[in-house]
Amino acid sequence: MKILVTGGLGYIGSHTVVELQQSGYEVIIVDNLSNSRIEVLENIEKISGVKPNYENFDLSEANLCADFFRRNADIEGIIHFAAYKAVGESVEKPLEYYKNNIGSLLNIMENMRSFKIENLVFSSSCTVYGQPDELPVTERAPIKEALSPYGYTKQVAEVMISDFIYAHPANSIALRYFNPIGAHKTALIGELPLGVPNNLMPFITQTAIGIREQLSVFGDDYNTPDGTAIRDYIHVVDLAKAHVIAVERMMNKKQKAAFEIFNIGTGNGYSVLEVIQSFEKTSKRKLNYKIVARREGDVEQVWADTNFANNELGWKAEKGLDEMTLSAWNWQLSLK
Ligand code: NAD
Ligand code: WQD
Repeated sequence: MKILVTGGLGYIGSHTVVELQQSGYEVIIVDNLSNSRIEVLENIEKISGVKPNYENFDLSEANLCADFFRRNADIEGIIHFAAYKAVGESVEKPLEYYKNNIGSLLNIMENMRSFKIENLVFSSSCTVYGQPDELPVTERAPIKEALSPYGYTKQVAEVMISDFIYAHPANSIALRYFNPIGAHKTALIGELPLGVPNNLMPFITQTAIGIREQLSVFGDDYNTPDGTAIRDYIHVVDLAKAHVIAVERMMNKKQKAAFEIFNIGTGNGYSVLEVIQSFEKTSKRKLNYKIVARREGDVEQVWADTNFANNELGWKAEKGLDEMTLSAWNWQLSLK
């Protein structure tokens, strides 16, 4: 069964390609390397023993996209990761974010319609919830006004998919990821932030290895037990496995509705200081950090209610925080 993985050389995509291959799927990747490196392809092969098919083009270019689907009309399912994802950058470059994140999705759905491809898994984000009124946050929680163009692209994308599924014979599952961290146990694939990382985990590992001088902890005056902000960190391999289950659910016609949305998190919230403590324990390094002011736009605390995913998808995150921080560290060491 042939699955298209857009953005399959990126952080979450590469881990998902490995899990799909290990579950017997044939994978074709489309990635324009705007935020990844071609070496990832070989490293996927080193892990799975199979080199996935790969094409390099920009999915937001309608003609290139249509040409690809004409040549690959036997694709049975699509996992759509390809997007820009830096919240701050999206405020500076909103048009680039709308073109890439909305334009690529539009092109994909047009080709799903033309070539009668019925199954789409979409990368959504807990960012759609903003600061939820109730925790843990369920999929039924109201969508809050987006704080960035990036966040807005995820909200709009969910609506676009819902409208498409209503009008056409197709199925979709949107997975709302919480905070993916960590790397594959082989340390052959992981997160490759180009430039200065925005996210906590790569900033921690780059500081520990000496690329960055010091981690700034953004705020210790939140209304949380230790004052630092709380997130639901999830191991990227657990997240990757959720995609395989979502694909199987669609292929086996197990969906209860043509468009389903699931939270993909662990259900546990950890503070920034708890992540640092776990990292210091597993890496056996002291981390140079200081407390600074809050970062604009950050929510105070969010973690997932995972009951729907656990009960309905039959998926549950298995890896704990220490395994996440250790694998992130081993990945950083391997990059040397
Ligand atoms: P990533 O940047 O590592 O991977 C995205 C990949 O898509 C990259 O390899 C990039 O080169 C490719 N790409 C981007 N635009 C493209 C285009 N127009 N045509 C072809 N390829 C293109 O990001 P990631 O962390 O793996 O995230 C994957 C998806 O998950 C994104 O949609 C992101 O918004 C979403 N998401 C990520 C997080 C997170 O914290 N990492 C959280 C929630 C949701
Ligand atoms: C985590 C915590 C920071 C860096 C972002 C996107 C979200 C989703 C996941 C895609 C926060 C703190 C961070 C640092 C710090 N992505 N921090 N010092 O902000 O929860 O979510 O990625 O959909 O949409 O907004 O993740 O890793 O940036 O931050 O103290 O140098 O670490 O304040 O509390 P975030 P993050």
